[in-house]
Order: sequence, then structure tokens, then C-alpha cells
Amino acid sequence: MSFTQLRGFGLALAAASILAACGGQSSTSSSTTPTASAPASASSAAPAADGKEYKVAMNAQFPPFESMNSSGQIEGFDVDVMNAIAKEEGFKVTYHQQAWDGIFASLKAGDNDILISGITITDDRKKEMLFSEPYYKITQVVLVPQGKKIVSVEDLKKMDKVGVTIGTTGDLAAQKILGATSEKIIRLENLPLMLKEVETGAVDAVISDSAVVADYVKKKGDKGFTMVEVPDFTVEYYGIAVRQDDKALMDKINSGLKKIQASGEYDKISDKYFAK
Ligand code: ARG
Repeated sequence: MSFTQLRGFGLALAAASILAACGGQSSTSSSTTPTASAPASASSAAPAADGKEYKVAMNAQFPPFESMNSSGQIEGFDVDVMNAIAKEEGFKVTYHQQAWDGIFASLKAGDNDILISGITITDDRKKEMLFSEPYYKITQVVLVPQGKKIVSVEDLKKMDKVGVTIGTTGDLAAQKILGATSEKIIRLENLPLMLKEVETGAVDAVISDSAVVADYVKKKGDKGFTMVEVPDFTVEYYGIAVRQDDKALMDKINSGLKKIQASGEYDKISDKYFAK
């Protein structure tokens, strides 16, 4: 498995930030759903469409990967990537909001067919579902109010309350450092709740995915939050998931992913959301 494409992101981003600055985010989300549950068909130009329609679930509280806009439309990097794959492979998708806690169970139960939601590929999860090739690389990071010094794991251990989203790899990272039964770990249902807690000072720090925390810090501007990288946190890769027995669908997803990476479509989407 090669991650060269993932490693190349930095350069591609630098080169394309100019483009993004001119293009903005205007009409690009028109291919997403008009409402959270209405069909978002991939373009009619799709080749050899099998006409199949798949339900895609995501916890749309995780910008810039997925979030709900003011008109109830799910948008974000994952939506654009999934739309591009569906278009390449000629199938249709509809997007559905799902609580993070229960997202894997919903796939297993057949309530939906595909999960794309900033999901880290882990060995435990691989026992439960099929994952695509990696499509994004992150690490866990710590978000702290400015002025709070965290440079090591030891500093993190000194915090009284560390917020995580329940059942995420951030939760696992916190357990690894503070202990699985540590009362310092405050588990919340989703990222927006966690951010509120750190803003009010109800928790001292938050552990979550680097790309999401970086996006938040950037949007907050001078509001005084810092993203801290802890050397102990290892690299994670996001994957798209389907049920174990949906091998044919997974083959299509991997094939589409490969095509959009080769064509430059993936980089275009990346620049739209992650240009500096
Ligand atoms: N990458 C982390 C994990 O897989 C967090 C993902 C949370 N995603 C979301 N859409 N809320 O555990």
C-alpha cells in the first residue's frame, strides 16, 4: 500500500491555495443533497451507471469533513469525495445524518450502506467492516486555550479534565495516556459539544483529529486556541467503510478513489477544504 499521494499533499496545497482563494466555495456543493435525506444523485454523465443507489451515513458534526449547513444540507470534504467516486463508478448516493455513537451499528443493521465520516481505519474496526484504501492522513492533537502549556504527555497528565468524543480514536488516545478508567476523561457525544466545553473552560483540553482541530483554530482566528501535537500520538488514516459482505461495492469505491486521485479531482477537493 503506498501513501505517496498522501505525503504529497503539502506541496499540492501550497500550489493550489491561489486557485482556492479566487474560486471560493460558491456553487461546488450543488451536487450534494437538498435536504439531509433527499437523493444526491451523482452527475448524469456517469459512465456505465448501474443505477444503484446507496445510503451514505455520516456524523455531520465534524467540519470540514462533514457538517450541516443552515439549510439542512450535509456538506464537506467527505461529501465531495464520495460524490466524485460515485460519479466515476456510476452509482448514486444519498446522505444521512447519524449520531457518531451508533454509526457502526447502523451500518451493520443495514440502515445504510456506506460510511464516510472521517473514520480512522483501526484493526478492531476492520474486524467489523470493510475499509477502503486510506484517503486522508491525520494524527490526534490536543486543543488548549492559549496560555496553557502542553509540550509533552506529562503536561497532559497534569490536566484535570480532558474532553473527547465518545468512541473515537481521540478517546482511545486519552485512555492510553491517562488510563482507561481515568476520571479525567470527559466523554461527549460530538465535536461541537466538546468545543463548547473547552471554550467555557469546563474542560482544560480536547483531544481530536488534527485536520478538524486545525480548521477550528483557523476559523477562530484570534480567539486564542492552540493546537498542540503530542509526539506519542501516531499517524491515523481515514477510510470509507461498507459491510463485510459488500466486497463488490468496496471494489467500486476503491476503483473510484484511485481514479479521482489520478485525475487530480481529489486534489481539487482537497484544496477547496484545506488550502492554507
Ligand atoms: N477519526 C476519529 C475516529 O475515527 C473521529 C471521527 C469522528 N467523525 C465524525 N464525523 N464525528 O474515531
